[in-house]
Amino acid sequence: MKNKKLHIKSFGCQMNKLDSSLVTNALKASGFTLTDQPEDADVVLINTCSVREHAEQKVYSHLGHLKHIKESHPNLICGVIGCMAQRLGNQLLEHQAVDLVCGPAQISNITQLVQTAISEKIPTVSITEKIRAKADKTVSDKLDDFELAYDSDENHIKNQAFVRVMRGCNNFCTYCVVPYVRGPEISRPPRAILEQIKKLTDKGVKQITLLGQTVNSYEYTAGDKTYRLADLLSAASEIKAVKWLRFITSHPGKFDENILHTMADIPKVCPYLHIPAQSGSDRILKEMNRNYTAAQYLDLLDKARSIVNDIAIAGDFIVGFPSETDDDFQATVDLVKKARYKNCFVFKYSSRPGTHTAKKLSDNISDKIKKNRNTELLNIQNKISGEENEKLMGRTLKVMVEGLSKKPHLNSTDNNGLPQLIGRTATDHIVVFNGPENFSGKFVNVRVIKTAPLTLFGNIL
Ligand code: SAH
Ligand code: SF4
Ligand code: F3S
Repeated sequence: MKNKKLHIKSFGCQMNKLDSSLVTNALKASGFTLTDQPEDADVVLINTCSVREHAEQKVYSHLGHLKHIKESHPNLICGVIGCMAQRLGNQLLEHQAVDLVCGPAQISNITQLVQTAISEKIPTVSITEKIRAKADKTVSDKLDDFELAYDSDENHIKNQAFVRVMRGCNNFCTYCVVPYVRGPEISRPPRAILEQIKKLTDKGVKQITLLGQTVNSYEYTAGDKTYRLADLLSAASEIKAVKWLRFITSHPGKFDENILHTMADIPKVCPYLHIPAQSGSDRILKEMNRNYTAAQYLDLLDKARSIVNDIAIAGDFIVGFPSETDDDFQATVDLVKKARYKNCFVFKYSSRPGTHTAKKLSDNISDKIKKNRNTELLNIQNKISGEENEKLMGRTLKVMVEGLSKKPHLNSTDNNGLPQLIGRTATDHIVVFNGPENFSGKFVNVRVIKTAPLTLFGNIL
């Protein structure tokens, strides 16, 4: 497919973005070049998310835009890939813009699917028929080979890469669509993961983030040895060129303490945990099928803080889950106050068709209450983040530089004509400072001179 141009856009989580990188890699290998203008493209792919209704609405509005472009570019091929593709399948073809639908488990065939769409102009749907059926070994081997071919990504932040350690999810939190679009949980062989990390570091990658929906439940048995996340982290840390290792996202149920010891003992393993609580009300946690109580969750955070010095913890919450009372919400507020997160993400409950909650409980909390709870929780967290960040004032922190900061200068008085850069610490704190652009992808030391709830400001040393 010589001289063809691809435009690709992701609407989802890190898993979704990683899939976009794999797809981009494959299509580039078959001759495509990338364009950031859909008007210039021969093929537009949108990688979609179903986790909340709003995520799907954004995709529909983008499809409306593509339909408009197609009126003047009739040969343009539009493909919908990812979680919405798996959830809606054929239904998506009803949209005038859509020529191709490809689920997350079919992306290894993307080159062939795109080729057929271009040459035959017949609408195509390729998704998994029975998404919760036991994972088919040939499919997962094929996905693994597809994944292994990935060794660089020009869309992404310099010298950082994501590596999937597991696919799917078996937790069935009652509100969540992920198990129905990503299929059963399956851990990749450690050998493949380590080989992939080596390949990425050969291209200059220094920071690796291991990805899984419940990454702490990684488990792979080969012969008489079972590898868990802690084993994987130690093995990956032995690769010399790996400087920082992260992993997201952790589930608080059955959290293996060895992960915390690995973090404490191996400096390369960043002292950062993203571990969503979702609610602080035991009644709601039970309705959500989360398998822990608020007290157990807080005990886990205490344990993490006692084992790992200066660990930073981030969380997720859902407000307005069906039947959530003021008292339930108050329990969430209390938990947030006790947890003292670095930051947290708050989502308004969105009923997802096919999930247990959508079938059993009506979405009976008004949008107004959801909004109010959302704002209140974020305000409380903002105050905590501000207080926690103040403690970092004057400290010198090691920062991995990501690149130019998109926001205007906040400390431009003495910038010596240098642009404003943005980077992150091992604890995932965002740091803004002035420095040369070619520092992207490098480690620097920055002294903190000012703090805000979401950002630290500093001078490069
Ligand atoms: N596997 C990860 C993340 C899954 S999706 C985990 O379990 O932590 C990311 C976040 O979206 C979740 O943590 C949850 O807070 C939120 N989320 C999932 N389903 C949702 C729904 N139906 N409505 C609102 N938020 C939801
Ligand atoms: Fe969804 Fe729960 Fe699985 Fe996370 S652990 S992806 S919230 S079902
Ligand atoms: Fe990710 Fe959204 Fe799918 S959160 S796994 S892209 S439903």
